[in-house]
Amino acid sequence: MANSSNWNFDTSAIRAGEHRDPATGAHNTPIYQTATFSFETSEDLANAFINYGKPDCPDLYTRESNPTISVLQDKMAVLQKTESCLAMASGMAAVAASIRLCAKAGDHVIVTDKIFVVSKSFFTDECPAMGIEVTFVDMLDLESVRNAVKPNTKALFVETITNPQMCVVDLTELKRIAADNDLSLIVDNTYLSPYLLQPVDFGADLIVDSATKYLSGHGDAVGGILCGSQEKIQKARASMSSFGQCISPFNAWLILRGIRTLPLRMEKHTKNAMALANMLKNHEKIDWVRYAGTPENHQQDLIAKQFPKGCGGMLSFGIKGHADNLHRFMNALQMVDQATSLGDVYTLAAARINYDLIRVSVGCEDEKDILADFTQALEKIEI
Ligand SMILES: Cc1ncc(COP(=O)(O)O)c(C=O)c1O
Repeated sequence: MANSSNWNFDTSAIRAGEHRDPATGAHNTPIYQTATFSFETSEDLANAFINYGKPDCPDLYTRESNPTISVLQDKMAVLQKTESCLAMASGMAAVAASIRLCAKAGDHVIVTDKIFVVSKSFFTDECPAMGIEVTFVDMLDLESVRNAVKPNTKALFVETITNPQMCVVDLTELKRIAADNDLSLIVDNTYLSPYLLQPVDFGADLIVDSATKYLSGHGDAVGGILCGSQEKIQKARASMSSFGQCISPFNAWLILRGIRTLPLRMEKHTKNAMALANMLKNHEKIDWVRYAGTPENHQQDLIAKQFPKGCGGMLSFGIKGHADNLHRFMNALQMVDQATSLGDVYTLAAARINYDLIRVSVGCEDEKDILADFTQALEKIEI
């Protein structure tokens, strides 16, 4: 493989980790859709067992390692600027693995209170079942974060842009608290992807991405990525083998293919989201719009420092008038799909009744078509 250390991000997204297939010369990374690997001799297989789980162990069984998955891992370690990476079955598998790496029974973790709903369930239900104590804290209130630290606290877990409220956390200040108290800083970077933010630049120790979202980009594969030091990722790999949350080679290949166009897509998501936010904020039927990239956002200095390339494709907004207007508006959309998930080339919208808002994952369609669909749906409601 060529030396990737001097490549810029866009080149690495395409080329890092990739190499000519040694067996066939195939230019594109093949899908090694196999559960097990065979060896020439009994001694070779015996040696593979002896070295099982070590970094230089030959591929033995796909729950542990596989050449297609390895290419994805090598690429993501370069893109996240970490020593190592583990691809997993889903973003939730990566969230759970990040916590298990830092905390055991009797330990305590501090978690952002504005968090993806299934991550919230993991921290509320599964962590206590493992004997791990959790305190949810407003990560925008740094004094509360400091006050929540206990002698047995091991980690801070944050999302870079909170879901679905779209607030931005100050990673530099959170790292300061983590360093002062010997805690690991775990960053879920799903909303931005490494194109818009490499959390290592702000001292993150572990980085989680739901690869289902922007990394894959096409809504056709579920996967998760955990990046960190060689030592931590090696530990996570051993644990993944026991828990069995490996990614399939086919999903790894789809995500790998998606990542090659990540820079192009993130630019378009960001441009389209900015255009939609600007249109909505001036619309008479819209109560409020939250998009990190608009100039009205009170966190502009922080945003400029953390996300100089832009703020991605996620926004939320409220509609004036009757509570039923959320459903009326959603049902009037003609092109935009009503669906959960995010980071897809298709624009997806979902009404979040409990928050009285609509969350939009702005896709890569033509900006004019996206704006036209939102405009015509707004015309159909009365305030
Ligand atoms: C911020 C965030 N983290 C993690 C996840 C979980 O990812 P997955 O659906 O791949 O398990 C999601 C899913 O929406 C998410 O939005």
